[in-house]
Amino acid sequence: MAKIQTIDLNFSYRAKHQTIHAVKDVNLLLEPGLMQVIIGKSGSGKSTLLSLLASLQTPEQGMILVDDMDLQKMDADQYRRKRAAVIFQAYNLFPLLTVQENIIYPLLLNKIPKRTAETQAEKVLEQVGMDASFLKRFPATLSGGEQQRVAIARALANQTDIVLADEPTGNLDTKNTERITGLLSSMAHNQGCCVVVVTHDLSVAANADRVFAMDGGTLSGVAP
Ligand SMILES: Nc1ncnc2c1ncn2[C@@H]1O[C@H](COP(=O)(O)OP(=O)(O)OP(=O)(O)O)[C@@H](O)[C@H]1O
Ligand SMILES: [Mg+2]
Repeated sequence: MAKIQTIDLNFSYRAKHQTIHAVKDVNLLLEPGLMQVIIGKSGSGKSTLLSLLASLQTPEQGMILVDDMDLQKMDADQYRRKRAAVIFQAYNLFPLLTVQENIIYPLLLNKIPKRTAETQAEKVLEQVGMDASFLKRFPATLSGGEQQRVAIARALANQTDIVLADEPTGNLDTKNTERITGLLSSMAHNQGCCVVVVTHDLSVAANADRVFAMDGGTLSGVAP
């Protein structure tokens, strides 16, 4: 069970001639057992906020507490390996690894025996609606939606207590969107995960326990 809290969180991208203040004074409480959705138009700062929660970038000001501990003081790799599974907007599958190898990679890093990891890979792949025939294929031979589902399966396989997903249904049809939305909410409700989903998709937001809206870097409101 994990709780995440952000306190006056700020982040800017600094280029030579321009500074983009992508996250502005965000105060957010994300709780275990809930599916929490962040919506907002393109460029509003959703992915940047998620990357801060994933410890992929460091806050410029403010802080993030995970179970009351300062995220910046934790080892970022360990945090993502053991605590927080990240589903990236651009999938980030390893191109030279098969579907099976992609899914078991984080498990092997966590010293799970290979056989156990392979059984787990088959199970999670089935959960995202793909059969075992996909295990030996390479990401480049899959459709966008299939790659997305493998990325989700990889995150599910690791059974972390935090799941951070950036547009996890961006490339999926209605049926698979429902399947993935159901899986994410069941991870929250049945396993007590703290699930955070960034999306444009209002059908995903409709299944959330909490919805936060982002606008111009600011968390502008909370819808029921
Ligand atoms: N690496 C970067 N360097 C400079 N500016 C960036 C970078 N990444 C994002 N930005 C800018 O920061 C702002 C927020 O971007 P972000 O990717 O967080 O938006 P988003 O809400 O996830 O958008 P989308 O819905 O299109 O994915 C935008 O103005 C964007 O142009
Ligand atoms: Mg984004």
